[in-house]
Amino acid sequence: MELRLSVCVLLLLCATSSSNGGKILVWYTEASHWINMKPVLETLVDRGHQVTVLVPSASMFMNSSEPSRFQYEPFDVSVSLEAFEELLEEFNHFSMYEIDYMNYFQIYIKYIDIMRTDLQNNLKTLDGVVKSETLMKKLKKENFDLLFADPLLPGSDLAADILGIPLVFSLRFSLAHNWERMCGQLPAPPSFVPGAMSKLTDKMDFSERLWNVLFYALQDVVIDNVMWKMLDKYYSEVKGSNTRIFSWIPQNDLLGHPKTKAFITHGGTNGIYEAIYHGVPMVGIPMFADQSDNMVHMKAKGAAVIQNLNFMTTESLRDAIKMIINDKSILANLNTLKAQPYGAWKHFYSFIHSYKENVMRLSRIHHDRPMSPRDEAVFWIEFTMRHKGAKHLRVQAHELTWYQYHSLDVLTFFITIDLFLIFILFKTCSFCFQRCCGRKTTKRKAE
Ligand SMILES: *[C@@H]1O[C@H](CO)[C@@H](O)[C@H](O)[C@H]1NC(C)=O
Repeated sequence: MELRLSVCVLLLLCATSSSNGGKILVWYTEASHWINMKPVLETLVDRGHQVTVLVPSASMFMNSSEPSRFQYEPFDVSVSLEAFEELLEEFNHFSMYEIDYMNYFQIYIKYIDIMRTDLQNNLKTLDGVVKSETLMKKLKKENFDLLFADPLLPGSDLAADILGIPLVFSLRFSLAHNWERMCGQLPAPPSFVPGAMSKLTDKMDFSERLWNVLFYALQDVVIDNVMWKMLDKYYSEVKGSNTRIFSWIPQNDLLGHPKTKAFITHGGTNGIYEAIYHGVPMVGIPMFADQSDNMVHMKAKGAAVIQNLNFMTTESLRDAIKMIINDKSILANLNTLKAQPYGAWKHFYSFIHSYKENVMRLSRIHHDRPMSPRDEAVFWIEFTMRHKGAKHLRVQAHELTWYQYHSLDVLTFFITIDLFLIFILFKTCSFCFQRCCGRKTTKRKAE
């Protein structure tokens, strides 16, 4: 009885110490970004935090009528839902069916055009928050401890600033790591960090490094958001007697089934992580956004084969599926082999693995972590609240000028010292030379 009582007390103590009961405001987002955010919000609620989510009236994926354990804070926007849907449709069509037939200049012009309209719509949405006196007054009164946002849609940093609360981002990447580099001051030398969505890996030859530098530079000019919407209708187009079509399937469960041999995927982040988690090799048919980039990385690891949506044929898709199920991934590993010293060629066969072996290796690495990603996300949100914005994590690079950042001042200093020493050496030598030779000539003259 006593033991039970003390266990109860202990549990109670644990419960109170683990839930700090903070108030968290969550920025609106869309599509997979919203799907990924929800489990973290659930866990935050589990841990006793009060979670409030901003939802614009014209949201494609958020539904404030949906039963949930967090609160919704709906707000009105002047853009229609149809306007958002139309733009998304246009962007998808561009990425899936037009881009392969356009030159770089045309792609660039179209891309900027779409991004500009997107930004205009997003800013009108933002009006609904920051320009609404009623809403801002209400949010201020709530005294939130933190704003949690996926920066896909702009304005969360502005709102956090106005509300005077710390901000935590949940971000997979930005185009060419632009936000990470410009806003986070994260170092990303283009010599070995491939720009996100450049379709390059970290092993680049000279021409690829040249392209990477240009890619960074080009994307730095066009900074914007890219959104995606999955058209599962596409899958219905390829029908066969051994194919079953569902409007929705529990993809994660299916990938976890021991009989699953291969995964034909559009290459979205969630899908490839699920495939890596369960160790299923992939045939990627990337369509838009980060999908091509994701699949290039999977291919480089010997875990996938890529098919081009516009140029693939029934035969090529069939061959690709056969290949990842039956063949060894020689190509992907030849690159690894080439990087080895000469003697390694003797062990040629030890570098050839099946696609299954390669993806299982990725899976083992993926599972080997100190805590679950969900716990990690919640940890950092709570960490930032506990330390009032965690200013100590801000890198010193923010305080440096560009020439200090590249240590050019130090370099200049060393070069100056070197030049000075060379100058001294030169002067000493010429002085000695003059003394020695000069004396000889005078002596000879005297003789
Ligand atoms: C929003 O959720 C409610 C309640 O679950 C549901 O009845 C409604 O159909 C949903 N709306 C949309 C647009 O999905």
